[in-house]
Amino acid sequence: MEMWEGIQSRRSISHLEGYVDEEVVRALIEEAAIWAPNHHHTEPWHFSVLIGESRKRIGDEWARLAADELGLTGEAREKFETKERDKLLRAPVVVVVSQKVSGSSVQVQEDHAAVAAAIQNFLLAAHARGLGARWRTGKMAYHPWLREILKLGAQDVVVGLIYLGWPSSNQEIVARPRTKEGLIDWIIR
Ligand SMILES: Cc1cc2nc3c(=O)[nH]c(=O)nc-3n(C[C@H](O)[C@H](O)[C@H](O)COP(=O)(O)O)c2cc1C
Repeated sequence: MEMWEGIQSRRSISHLEGYVDEEVVRALIEEAAIWAPNHHHTEPWHFSVLIGESRKRIGDEWARLAADELGLTGEAREKFETKERDKLLRAPVVVVVSQKVSGSSVQVQEDHAAVAAAIQNFLLAAHARGLGARWRTGKMAYHPWLREILKLGAQDVVVGLIYLGWPSSNQEIVARPRTKEGLIDWIIR
């Protein structure tokens, strides 16, 4: 796939299915994501790959915790838990991409930018392979419980949950509105 075409044709894909080989996921991380620009080569990224049963185990635990925190009971709890429990099952693979936080405030900011760039590399590489992906965040991503269960550092920050799989045939591709007004200032003198 030609690079410009790949950049412009990548879209977030919600309906993901099938089986993704572990070596393909490894390649997306090792041969694409970590080649992102990274000031002082701090390598601030970490990838927790949820594959197979772990998505269900972690989803079950999350659903109970989130329902407890909201103090839900009865039918409302059941409905809420079902919705939360199924979230990680929306794709065969979910890659939790986190930032190892250390150093000065400038380093933290620059490392965050580097991790975001790594995610974009991952998304583009997945697209080039014909895979679909969606970068998600939400309450689970930012809850300290997720860091604990993934054995991340207490200061680490989850930057995205990348849902990965094969686009299902009924996937609707949402066109992207573009505004070019005020996007660029040319500073000449
Ligand atoms: C930091 C960040 C967080 C995001 N969180 C979510 C999310 O929680 N749920 C979701 O459906 N999409 C999420 N997205 C994906 C955006 O919604 C998506 O990229 C945007 O709608 C543009 O669509 P496109 O990727 O198809 O161009 C997130 C994207 C970024 C960069």
